[in-house]
Amino acid sequence: MWNMTGKVVVITGGANGIGQAAARLFAREGATAVVADIEQDGAEQTAEAIRLDGGSAVALGCDVERADSVQLLADTTVAMFGRLDILFANAAIQLTKAGADTTLEEWDHLHAVNLRGVFLCCKAVIPVMQRQHKGSIVITSSGHAFATYPRCSAYAATKGGQLALMRGLALDYAADGIRVNCVIPGATDTRLVRNYLAASPDPEQEKRRLLGGIPLGRLAAPEEIAEAVLFLASDRAAYITGTSLAVDGGLLAQA
Ligand code: NAI
Repeated sequence: MWNMTGKVVVITGGANGIGQAAARLFAREGATAVVADIEQDGAEQTAEAIRLDGGSAVALGCDVERADSVQLLADTTVAMFGRLDILFANAAIQLTKAGADTTLEEWDHLHAVNLRGVFLCCKAVIPVMQRQHKGSIVITSSGHAFATYPRCSAYAATKGGQLALMRGLALDYAADGIRVNCVIPGATDTRLVRNYLAASPDPEQEKRRLLGGIPLGRLAAPEEIAEAVLFLASDRAAYITGTSLAVDGGLLAQA
């Protein structure tokens, strides 16, 4: 249905959460998943689970904030499979702190992983996609790019930056047949949200507030975000570039 057979997809942050769900889904649809993560053991586990399911996957350790590590990821992928069709630039970290309490080191680290990391991944794969005259990049941004919560300003800034970067890259490389889009997950049941809740002054109350603000009344499953990523990455989205798709249970539709 999605014509993923023979395609090679690089997924950053593939050891956990949304990236892991996406890796499993792409592989189930016939793609070869290159599961990249700073947690190499976790990436290996994701790849092994895919192979046990009969899919095709390899794990590669990668720290997206480091240019040499990201370039090695792209080069190794091409050396192993001869091509690189899809990048799911998904790895990120979260920080729950009020703006002025955020240290310069925290600000820089957050931007290095979330924004520079996406830039580096795109920079490494785009020349390969240009040679193929085709490629698709999906970046995981966030509802925080549009409307945020208290104590999330630095994270929100990186997520807004990803959205702006996505638009610029979509224009720069449309003529090369490369599409670039963002998925905008709502609150999704992953470690990232569990850590966010745990860092709240009253986690139970914060969870009630979070759920109460979601029109569909529940967290997303990572697999539900992965479905949208698969669509955006696929040829069925051939005329979609430079835009974002919210998968948020109606969160951003509200006044
Ligand atoms: P997660 O914490 O489960 O997964 C993030 C993955 O990124 C982890 O496997 C982690 O090891 C990896 N990672 C972190 N730093 C890295 C680095 N320097 N290099 C390589 N890999 C690194 O979190 P989740 O929720 O699956 O997050 C995935 C994406 O979804 C992130 O971009 C996040 O900002 C975004 N997002 C998540 C939402 C949620 O409610 N869970 C909502 C909106 C956006």
